[in-house]
Amino acid sequence: MTIFNINLHEAVYSLSDALDLVGVTHIHHGKRVAYMAAECGKQMGWRGQRMDDLFQAAILHDCGVSKTLVHSRLAQFEWEKEGDHCMIGAVLLNTCPLLAHLAPVVRYHHTHWSELKDMDLPEEVKFAANCIYMVDRVDVLSLGFMVDQSNLLLGREEIRMKIFEKRGDWFCPELVDAFMQVSRSEAFWLSLESEHVSGYVSVWLSETTQREMDFEELRSIVRIFSYIVDAKSPFTKSHSDGVARLSRYLGELFELSKVSCEMLELAGLLHDIGKLRQPDALLDKPGKLTPAEYAQIQRHSFDTYTILKNIKGLEKVTQWAALHHERADGSGYPYHLSTEGLAIEARIVAVADVFQALAQKRPYRDSLQPDEIMEILNEMVDEGKLDRGVVLCVDSHLQTCWEKAVGV
Ligand SMILES: [Fe+2]
Ligand SMILES: [Fe+2]
Ligand SMILES: [Fe+2]
Repeated sequence: MTIFNINLHEAVYSLSDALDLVGVTHIHHGKRVAYMAAECGKQMGWRGQRMDDLFQAAILHDCGVSKTLVHSRLAQFEWEKEGDHCMIGAVLLNTCPLLAHLAPVVRYHHTHWSELKDMDLPEEVKFAANCIYMVDRVDVLSLGFMVDQSNLLLGREEIRMKIFEKRGDWFCPELVDAFMQVSRSEAFWLSLESEHVSGYVSVWLSETTQREMDFEELRSIVRIFSYIVDAKSPFTKSHSDGVARLSRYLGELFELSKVSCEMLELAGLLHDIGKLRQPDALLDKPGKLTPAEYAQIQRHSFDTYTILKNIKGLEKVTQWAALHHERADGSGYPYHLSTEGLAIEARIVAVADVFQALAQKRPYRDSLQPDEIMEILNEMVDEGKLDRGVVLCVDSHLQTCWEKAVGV
């Protein structure tokens, strides 16, 4: 069994950075919520593992949201469908052994205290869920004061009063009292600015240690995020899964080492994670993209790099994932590397990505059959876009490649 030496917090934090991008205009929501939850937790006298769990659940609390539309709705103080993303988030976390204990907290992070307090759940879960709910609403209210650089300090009393009005109804009285206490200072509000909140999170990260995890554990974390990316558009459902399976299969055909094949699978799962920053409408657009829209789409593979680059132990996976739009002749993006600069694994992911995308329906065309896909891949080889060796390998195992790509 391959063991990866990865810092769980670092991995969760980096990947959740991608979640933060779903806000498009409201970025770093997860980090601000984690910061405020931690301040309230400290005030409550919570320590150790309880604080770690609170922080991690807060960072991940919106993992059930991949659509920019849903995110914008959550930025309203009240929205009747807010429970859906709690459920999706909890289901996702439950698929991952290392994070499953956070699922109930995420599940109830929009449940009013008046209802939650009598539910048959551990006290710690109820408090953590309600703490996240409360500061999540604080962040939403803050948003109104953060536009146009207007000063959050001017709005803080209004925000505090709005939270106080829900004491005992939406929010647990002790938690509201803790919040009222910590939010008296200017520093509390000024710390919500991006550079401060990122610094706060970095300190938390630096206090945690590397943890060995096996491939299955790591993959289960990564799959949460690949699921989120794929769920952004109805057209890309399971795209990352397909790219991952096909990349791994091609790696095996090239007789790469077991660990390289496993990392290829991870790279496939993560290659499009930068798409979380893209507005849904762009990914679903049926017609031709305008130059501005194309420029926006093009940044996603660089965003993939930005999101993954800080996870120590995943350097190669980061490279192979971020280079999936590079082309053999140097005409790809974002680095314009050509074959000599591209590892075989990166060339494999690039081919697997094109193959899987062609096998799926897109807003502007139907899904293609294996022989039609092969024709396009061969044309791309002739144009100098894709690696000839990799495409030849696909050709000689076409049926299995198709099955891996579409998940038969
Ligand atoms: Fe939220
Ligand atoms: Fe892509
Ligand atoms: Fe892709």
